[in-house]
Parts: sequence; C-alpha cells; structure tokens
Amino acid sequence: MQGFEMCLPTKVIFGKGTESRVGREIKEYGAKKALVVYGKGSAAASGLLGRVEGFLEKEGIAFAEWGGAQPNPQLDHAQAGVEFALSKEADFILAVGGGSVIDTAKAIAHGMANPGARLWDFWTKKVPLEKTAPFGVILTIPAAGSEMSDSAVLTNREKGKKMGLSTPLNRPLFAIMDPELAYTLPKYQIACGIADIMMHTLERYFIPDQKNRMTDEIAEGLLRTAVASGRGALLDPCDYDAMSELMWCGSLSHNGITGLGRKKDFSVHKLGHALGARFDCAHGASLTAVWGSWAEYVYRNDVPRFAHYGRSVWGIEGDGEEAARLAIARTVGYFREIGMPTSLKELGVGELSDGVLRELAMDATQNGSVELSVIRRLNADDVYQIFALARG
Ligand code: NZQ
Ligand code: ZN
Repeated sequence: MQGFEMCLPTKVIFGKGTESRVGREIKEYGAKKALVVYGKGSAAASGLLGRVEGFLEKEGIAFAEWGGAQPNPQLDHAQAGVEFALSKEADFILAVGGGSVIDTAKAIAHGMANPGARLWDFWTKKVPLEKTAPFGVILTIPAAGSEMSDSAVLTNREKGKKMGLSTPLNRPLFAIMDPELAYTLPKYQIACGIADIMMHTLERYFIPDQKNRMTDEIAEGLLRTAVASGRGALLDPCDYDAMSELMWCGSLSHNGITGLGRKKDFSVHKLGHALGARFDCAHGASLTAVWGSWAEYVYRNDVPRFAHYGRSVWGIEGDGEEAARLAIARTVGYFREIGMPTSLKELGVGELSDGVLRELAMDATQNGSVELSVIRRLNADDVYQIFALARG
C-alpha cells in the first residue's frame, strides 16, 4: 500500500426527501441569506426550486436567485454571479443542480470571499486561492461528482479555454442527494453521467500498478456497479435502486477514493475539455468520443494492467494482448450500448481538418508545454495522433 493523504469534509445527506433538510443545514453555519444557484430551468420546471425556497423560508433564511448556469459553465456568468452575490449581501451559496451549477456556485463562493479578484486568475493559478465562502449542494444528476470533488471547471469563452481548478477549498460543506430528483433526466443526460462516472475512475486506474489492492478493489467494484446500475437507470429512470446506486457511484468516483495512493491521469479529460471549449458538447460525450482511441494508443505500455481491468470489470479471461484489446472493445461497446459517441464523427462535430486536430492537441497540452498520461507520456503530437484515430 502506498502512502496517501485524504480529507473528505463534505457531509453527505443521502436518500428520499432529503432536500427538506436544506434550511436546517445552512442554518448550522449561521448563514442568514443564501444565493440559490441553478441552471437553465430544470430545477424550476420540476418544482424543486420552489420547494427548496420554501424550506429556506421555514428556517428564516432569506434568499436571492442566480439562475442560468449552462452546461460547460461560463466564466463571465460566474463572475457576474459574484457581483450579484455581493450586492445582495449573501453569506451562503447553495447550488441546486448538476456539475455545471455546482461549479458555478464554487466559483461564486471563491469570488465572494475575494472581492475585486478576477476568477480566471485563480483558474490559471496566476493568483493563489486562499479562502472561499461557505457553499452547499443539492444534486439533481449523477455525473460530474462535483458534489464531493476538489475540482471546479469553467469555460472562458473569450479565450476558448475550458479549465479545471483543483483545491481543497472546492469541497462543498454538504451534499444533499435525493436520487428521486434525477427521475426527470433525459436519457441522453443519464448516459453522459454514466460515462463521466466511469471515466473518473478509469482516469485513476490506468497508472502502472503501485500495489494498492484496496484502491483497485474499490475502483473495480465501482465500475461494475456503474455499468449495471447505469443500464437499470436507462431502462427506467424512475428505478430508485438503480438511480441511487448510480448517484453514489458518481460521488465516490470523483472524491478521490478510487485513486488513493497513486497518481491521477486525467489525460482523456484534457482532450474532452479541448473539445468542450470549442464545440460546447456534453462533457460525458466528449470523453467517450476519444477514450477508445486513447486506450488504443497507450495500452501496449501496460498490457497486464488492461488485461487485469478486463478480468475484474468485464469477466474477460487471460492476461495477454488479446485480453487487453477485448477489455478496450467491451468498454467502447458499453459506451455505444448506452448511446454515447465513440468517435469524433459520432460526437457530431463534423469533419475536422488536420489543422483543427493539431489546434485541439495544443489546447489539451497547454500549447505543447505539458505531457499527458502516465502509462505512456503523450506530447502534443501524440495527442494529435489520438484525435486523428478518433476521427471515426
Ligand atoms: O440547466 P438545467 O435546466 O438544470 O438542465 C441540466 C443540463 O441541461 C440538465 N439537468 C440536470 N439535472 C436535471 C436536468 N434535467 C432534468 N432533470 C434533472 N434532474 O442536465 C444538463 C446537464 O447538466 P450539467 O450540470 O451540465 O451536467 P453534469 O453534472 O454532467 O456537469 C457537467 C459539467 O461538470 C464539469 C464538466 O466539465 C461540465 O462542465 N465537471 C466538473 C467536475 C468537478 N467539478 O469535479 C469534474 C468533471 O470531470 C467535469 O469536468
Ligand atoms: Zn468528468
């Protein structure tokens, strides 16, 4: 077992009807006025927003609303949210939604605690983030894992960049998770969520083996559970058992526990973010469109690891090249089964020229200044080759 550090401060309140706890939870932090952050309309349409505001009122907590967070949330919307929160003298930020809403709320909390600061300076690490304001989450979609993660992702439209910021300050104070709130999800969004959940563990898994058996067992169990409960949730989005398993998988997959004691990879996310910034595609879809090509490109550097994955997650016999290739094929086959794109063509971004693929590779590698991946180091040219393989 390798050494590691872990601190998971987010209080999880999981189960049916738990959103009724929101007022009491916020009150525990002595807050008097919450800024309720939400998305384009699903929370209002389902009636959740109204119910949440009722629970706040019941505990004597005033509120203001900041709606309109969009998938691939925008820096300028979050920056405007900071000014709004300050003008309303909010002292707590409550996210009601998915990863995009939660990441917007995280950004607003950081800006609120640092008036006058430019959020992008934190994301680019020009200015270190040293404090934030209190924030909590009501989750409505099992997917990004932002409800427990140390990360927040914003898109800077002006610069054409989508970037994550990792800091312990990104961990919410609480996460209320009622799987029934996800019953209204369109199947495409459920599938995007399944893909992202699997990817957060896969991105921590393909690291040369460092003998962390417990971490491996958790990761493999999570992947098997996500595959099975994903199928169940797609079959019937109101299947509580399936949706609840999926929701918990989403949180565990990105809170760090499936990668304890080893490095993170996240190269497929870097490729996905380059696609998301340019084409505004759904995050989960941007990952499945390139994962197979990434795996194809790197697996020969650690055939036993891919074969081990195939055995533990997909029940594939053998430990050689054939088993490794089959493991990749089964994963890609599953993405296809749940309706996710497995190539750039299926992602619907059109025929991309070599020039565009090279630009995407430069975006993914910060203009060629960093190498990606752990199993096989990938420079900008390697990333270009992967994008070219993914053309489909
Ligand atoms: O905007 P609304 O109307 O709420 O609709 C959303 C949106 O259209 C809808 N939705 C959410 N809950 C719903 C619902 N529709 C009906 N019923 C419900 N219960 O689903 C759509 C997608 O929402 P979004 O929040 O974008 O989804 P997700 O949770 O997948 O978040 C994706 C974002 O999170 C980032 C991604 O890059 C992307 O920007 N990520 C954040 C991470 C983090 N902070 O740790 C890690 C991830 O790797 C990821 O990068
Ligand atoms: Zn992700």
